[in-house]
Amino acid sequence: MKITEEKLGEHERVAFISDAGSGLKAIIAVHSTALGPAAGGCRVWAYASQQDALGDVLKLSQGMSYKNAMAGLHLGGGKAVILGPIDEAKRRDVFRAFGAAIEMLGGAYITAEDVGVRVADMQAVAEETAFVTGVTAAKGIGGDPSPYTARGVLQGIKAAVRHKFGHDDLSGLRIAVQGLGNVGGNLCQLLVQEDAELFITDIDTARVAAIEARTGAAPFALDALNTLQTDVFAPCALGGVVTEHFAQTVNVPIIAGGANNQLLTPAAGDILHARRILYAPDYVINAGGIVVVDAEYRGDSDIDGILSKVDAIGARVSQLFDESEHADQPTYVLADQAARAKISAAQHAAKALEAAQ
Ligand code: NAI
Repeated sequence: MKITEEKLGEHERVAFISDAGSGLKAIIAVHSTALGPAAGGCRVWAYASQQDALGDVLKLSQGMSYKNAMAGLHLGGGKAVILGPIDEAKRRDVFRAFGAAIEMLGGAYITAEDVGVRVADMQAVAEETAFVTGVTAAKGIGGDPSPYTARGVLQGIKAAVRHKFGHDDLSGLRIAVQGLGNVGGNLCQLLVQEDAELFITDIDTARVAAIEARTGAAPFALDALNTLQTDVFAPCALGGVVTEHFAQTVNVPIIAGGANNQLLTPAAGDILHARRILYAPDYVINAGGIVVVDAEYRGDSDIDGILSKVDAIGARVSQLFDESEHADQPTYVLADQAARAKISAAQHAAKALEAAQ
């Protein structure tokens, strides 16, 4: 196993890992440990280049710092990417090697599931390190975080609908979901229970067919996002869906979904604000999963308390919508400011403590 480390920009540590035996190639980015150990999921993706993978992990790990701060968790922000595709015959070895690399970071980074990663993978990681969560629901809650991510997203959608339409009854509302994996699939299930009228798309046509059969949702073409005429668009695939062009042309009043890094550029968020399209900042609305993996990691088994923390996402998103209206500032700007303020308060407190010792 070879690990080389760099300090890049405002990231505290970036570790490049390769393991010839399993074929593992990964990057772990620790953005900030000001609020606690850097926690964030591990993504497996077939990146076009190592540079693309690095760009993704740097952006995602910063998002985790902000997400964990806004969710009120004692966790910093980190993320890992494994450069796919993985040799399926060696999958367990790959994740064990990944676990060994995390162990070598000595607790600076705690991992869990993200895109392309399953509970069984985290169980393989747990054979090598204790700095892992999303492993088991032995205490009644935990394991796969995505149902809780979807639960929080539902609360955020309701908050947005309440803000725009004055009620949070989703029955009959037209909601489009892009990306029907762990988060999107669970979200569709919840939306159907709320009697919403569902529209779905995914690059994986088998997933579209399965959700169509299960929920009666209407599929739409991948390239029809700009011409959607729904009440809500819920991005639940990968990042960057809200480009400046998309923000300028999309015809939906609300964008609220589970994907990370939805805005390709800050300017895209500014355009949404100028057009009075309500945007629920991604890392605020999609924090349900990390709330539960944090609880699992701490051994918290107060299920009602944990679920009410997930449901509090609705109130947090509502507050941002109100502040955005009063201050005439985009929601993403206000969320970034609030998250940075929490992180720098922790940094100042740590410095003051150090100075006092
Ligand atoms: P997943 O891998 O289970 O699902 C992703 C889905 O998106 C797949 O069905 C894939 O085919 C589809 N997809 C990819 N590119 C697409 C495109 N261009 N157009 C349409 N569909 C596309 O991943 P998961 O876990 O559901 O995560 C989805 C998003 O939510 C990611 O951005 C992830 O970072 C974010 N997220 C996930 C959390 C979790 O609890 N799993 C927690 C917080 C955020």
